[in-house]
Amino acid sequence: MYICLCKGITDRQIRRAVHEGAGSYRAVRECLGVATQCGKCGCHARAVVKEALGTRQVGNMVQLFPPQLATAAAG
Ligand code: FES
Repeated sequence: MYICLCKGITDRQIRRAVHEGAGSYRAVRECLGVATQCGKCGCHARAVVKEALGTRQVGNMVQLFPPQLATAAAG
């Protein structure tokens, strides 16, 4: 879904930027140019970044504690 019509940026592009290392809304904005023209997409873009940062952290926890290790540690 398009988030920023001025720049033609989709939610997938924002999520990809976060998963490739953009660690904040500001970083995504600088990387993709989202919300740099009319600014109407800022709130929605910020929400997508926040959600993507949350899933990135969960993904990192799964990498740190894969299910096999968690089971072995518990038993
Ligand atoms: S819709 Fe994103 S800057 Fe205008």
